Amino acid sequence: MSKSKVIAIANQKGGVGKTTSAVNLAAALARRRKKVLLVDSDPQGNATSGVGIHSGDYDKHLYHCYTSGTPAKETLIVPREKRSLTLIPSSIDLAAAEMELFPVKEREYVLKKLLATVREDFDYIIIDCPPSLGLLTVNSLTAADSVLIPMQCEYFAMEGLAQLIKTIRSVKKSLNTSLYIEGLLLTMFDKRNRLTFQVEEEIKKHFGDQVFKTVIPRNVRLSESPSHGQTVIDYDIKSTGAKAYIQLGNEFLRNQN
Ligand SMILES: Nc1ncnc2c1ncn2[C@@H]1O[C@H](COP(=O)(O)OP(=O)(O)O)[C@@H](O)[C@H]1O
Ligand SMILES: [Mg+2]
Repeated sequence: MSKSKVIAIANQKGGVGKTTSAVNLAAALARRRKKVLLVDSDPQGNATSGVGIHSGDYDKHLYHCYTSGTPAKETLIVPREKRSLTLIPSSIDLAAAEMELFPVKEREYVLKKLLATVREDFDYIIIDCPPSLGLLTVNSLTAADSVLIPMQCEYFAMEGLAQLIKTIRSVKKSLNTSLYIEGLLLTMFDKRNRLTFQVEEEIKKHFGDQVFKTVIPRNVRLSESPSHGQTVIDYDIKSTGAKAYIQLGNEFLRNQN
């Protein structure tokens, strides 16, 4: 087996903390001296801007890999001062990739083949998925060894989860037989809200030890840091948000063997 591991951060719901978790788990692992590649697979490009990369900083991005066969190596960018974190950026063009991919043979395997050419250069590759279950997410799940599912601790958290689990099962059955769930991550936890605890209990009842012990609190530093183009670990390492993602990184690493 390859020494590197690919993790897709997926949930078709928007605003549940996928990008925040992708960027900051990547940063937490990089802080532990792991070589990390962050792949922005969302046309919104929030992971790209979240680590301080803007259009104009790069020429080729994931769209070109999908549609013109640009090699991954030609898209890699190292955000300034982020020693062991590398990025494959995205831009709004990527939204068209799903349509353009449609007639392509083996269209679900494009990202897997792309990452195969750089896998050995990294310890962990983290893919930030878009809020849909379309071809970009299917490509990510096909390329991944495991999937991490962020869930916002709110009333409708479980809604849509069945659909996501169904998609993961069907990818596992036909495209990627060794795919497994890395864990469910509770995000935006608000201790002052009783409902949050009910949602936590409900999710734990269904998913037991598949739920990460680390819970990500609601923390304003986490929502501020992207506008500064910084991970929360660079922006304010003493914040509860940074501490939580560092703890998640540690829990994640303990779970690997
Ligand atoms: N733990 C948190 N505390 C406070 N704000 C958060 C937290 N996690 C995410 N956010 C904010 O919530 C919004 C949605 O998060 P995001 O990670 O972009 O979700 P997704 O990628 O699933 O759409 C963003 O504005 C983000 O900054
Ligand atoms: Mg996102």
